[in-house]
This record gives sequence, C-alpha cells and structure tokens, in this order.
Amino acid sequence: MASKQACDLLLFSVFLVASTAAGVSAAACSAADQAALQEFRKGLSDPYIGVFSSWTGKNCCSNWYGVACDPTNGRVTDITLRGESEDPILTRAGRSGLMIGRISSAICRLDSLTALIIADWKQISGPIPACITSLPAIRILDLVGNRLTGSLPDGIGKLSRLTVLNVADNQISGSLPKSLTQITGLMHLNLGNNRISGPIPSGFGNLKMLSRALLGRNQISGQIPASIGYMNRLADLDLAENKILGEIPASFGSMPVLSSLYLDGNRLSGKIPAGLLGSKGLGILNLSRNALDGDIPDVFTSRSYYTSLDLSYNKLTGDVPKSLLTAGFVGHLDLSHNHLCGRIPAGSPFDHLEATSFASNDCLCGWPLPTACQ
Ligand SMILES: *[C@@H]1O[C@H](CO)[C@@H](O)[C@H](O)[C@H]1NC(C)=O
Repeated sequence: MASKQACDLLLFSVFLVASTAAGVSAAACSAADQAALQEFRKGLSDPYIGVFSSWTGKNCCSNWYGVACDPTNGRVTDITLRGESEDPILTRAGRSGLMIGRISSAICRLDSLTALIIADWKQISGPIPACITSLPAIRILDLVGNRLTGSLPDGIGKLSRLTVLNVADNQISGSLPKSLTQITGLMHLNLGNNRISGPIPSGFGNLKMLSRALLGRNQISGQIPASIGYMNRLADLDLAENKILGEIPASFGSMPVLSSLYLDGNRLSGKIPAGLLGSKGLGILNLSRNALDGDIPDVFTSRSYYTSLDLSYNKLTGDVPKSLLTAGFVGHLDLSHNHLCGRIPAGSPFDHLEATSFASNDCLCGWPLPTACQ
C-alpha cells in the first residue's frame, strides 16, 4: 500500500516536472495580437513612467509589462495598466501615472481578451471604442480614472461574460444603454462621477448577480425602478447626486443583503419606506438633500445597526422616533434641517450625539439641543 502511494507520488512529480517544462515552452505571442498591441501603444504617450519600455522584442507574452497570454496559444488575454498602484514601476518613478492619448480601436482585434484594465491614467481621453462590444471573452472592463468622453456603447449588452464594468471618474455622457440589463452575470457596476443622463432602464433589476451598483454623481433622471428592490445580491447601491424623482420604492425594505444605500442629493419625495429604515443589515443610509416628507417611521429594533444614518435637509415632520433608543447601534445620526418637533428622547444613542444632529428643525427640544422642553 505504502509503496503504491510512493509510486503514485513519483508519477505525479514526473507529471509536474513535465508540465512545468511545457510551461517554459509556452506558445509565443500571436503575431496578429502583437501588431494590435503595437497599434494600441501608438495611441498613448506615457511621459513619466515608461510602462511601454518593456514592449520590445518578438514575444509579447514574455515580459511585456501589463500583458498576459494564454500559454497554450499565445493569444493575449489580459492588459493590466494601472496608474495608481503599489507596483514597483510606479514606486520607482516616485509618482502616480499619467498618460495622454486615446484607447485605440486596435484593442478590438485582441479577441481572446478577458480583462482590459487601463485605470487611473488621468488624461486618457476620447471615447471607449464601440467595437469593444465585439470582444466575446471579456470579463473585466476597468477604465476608471481617465478622461474618457462619449457614451457607453449601445451594444454593451453583447458582452455576456462581463462581471466587472468600471468606467467611474471619467466624462462619459449619454444615457444608460438598455442592453446593459442583458449582462446577467454582472457583479460590479461602477459608473460614478461621469455625466450620464436619462433614466435607469426599467429592467435594471434583471441584473440578479449585481452586488455593487455605483451610479452616483451623474445627471440621471426619472424614477427609481421598483425592480431594483428585488435584486437579492445587491449590497451597495449609490445613486447619490443625480436628478432622480419620485418615491423610494417600498420594495427596498425587503432587500436581503443591502448594506449601504446612498440616495442623497436627488429630488425624491414621499415617505421613507418603514421597511427600509427598519431593515436589519443596513449600515449606511444617506437620504440627505431630497424632498422626503411625513414622519420618520418608528421602526428601529435591537437589530438596527447604523454606522451612519443621514436624513438631513428634507421635509420630515413629527418627532424623533423613540425606538431609536432600542437600536443596536447608531454611530452618526443627522436629522438636521427638517420640520421635526418635540422632545428628543433621553438615553443612548442620543447621549453621544451633538446638537448639530438636530439643528434647524421646527420645535425640537431637550439634550443635546440648548433648548429645554417646556
Ligand atoms: C450624505 O449626503 C450629503 C449630501 O450629498 C453629504 O453632504 C453628507 O456628508 C452625507 N452624509 C454622510 C454621513 O456621509
């Protein structure tokens, strides 16, 4: 028995050595891919870091900075160029990256590409090449932190394997393509801090795998589709600082893993859904700077655990809910600039809050405000 195992182990080791040897003779770069990379490189200039200085020689699969290939066929699978990272190439240069130029449509000839990461180069401008939608294998598209303009390609829904789409911190305009809602494997969507306008497509809730949807700081208008409230994996939703109208869907109160919700700086009206405020996993809720009215639902429980709850700058009326006294934890609370009235309850969490949390209401009184109750 023992010798059989030793024999298996030996065979396995031989196999390992053989496959490592095969790894050494990995296929060299496909000539067509190499030409596409050279073309891509011509579109960009990198005056400080020299990331392309290693892009010489015949084999782009060997030691070309930021390029990775499939060793079985020499096709380029990954381009990873980050202008802000811990990478030695940046620490050696003693500065973060800066590139000028455009993303060449030559990139679309790399049809085995699974990851395209061209992040934080600050000055790469021009559009996202529309032909990118013909890259069938792409899973990660990360172009954050450049100066890209134009709109998201209409056909983006063709990227059926996409799991990460990040074009935040650019100057992307136009509306959200309807086809976006076809990318049913999408897990992370970050379009924040652009100039995207128009409504959120009503089928947005089809994105059942989505765990982060960050669309804040755009010009998005229309109402929040109720379908978002049925996204069972959505943990972080940021729609802050847009032009969104209407009510917060009641369905938001039954999202099983929602942990942060930013709707601040919109034009939302109506009441705060009681289910939302009382939901147990929610740690950050910012509804500040809208036109919400009605009472603050008195629904807090020992399972309420808010690191931050900001309801300031609305039109809320009634009193400060007494059930906040039973909340498991409330770190930061801001109820200022509303129309609340009455006695602030005594006890935790109110004993560690400051007067600014309650400032500019109609007739609140008691600690921590200087106004004593009559
Ligand atoms: C909530 O949003 C407002 C408006 O965008 C912002 O000023 C405020 O700092 C945010 N609150 C918290 C606690 O981050």
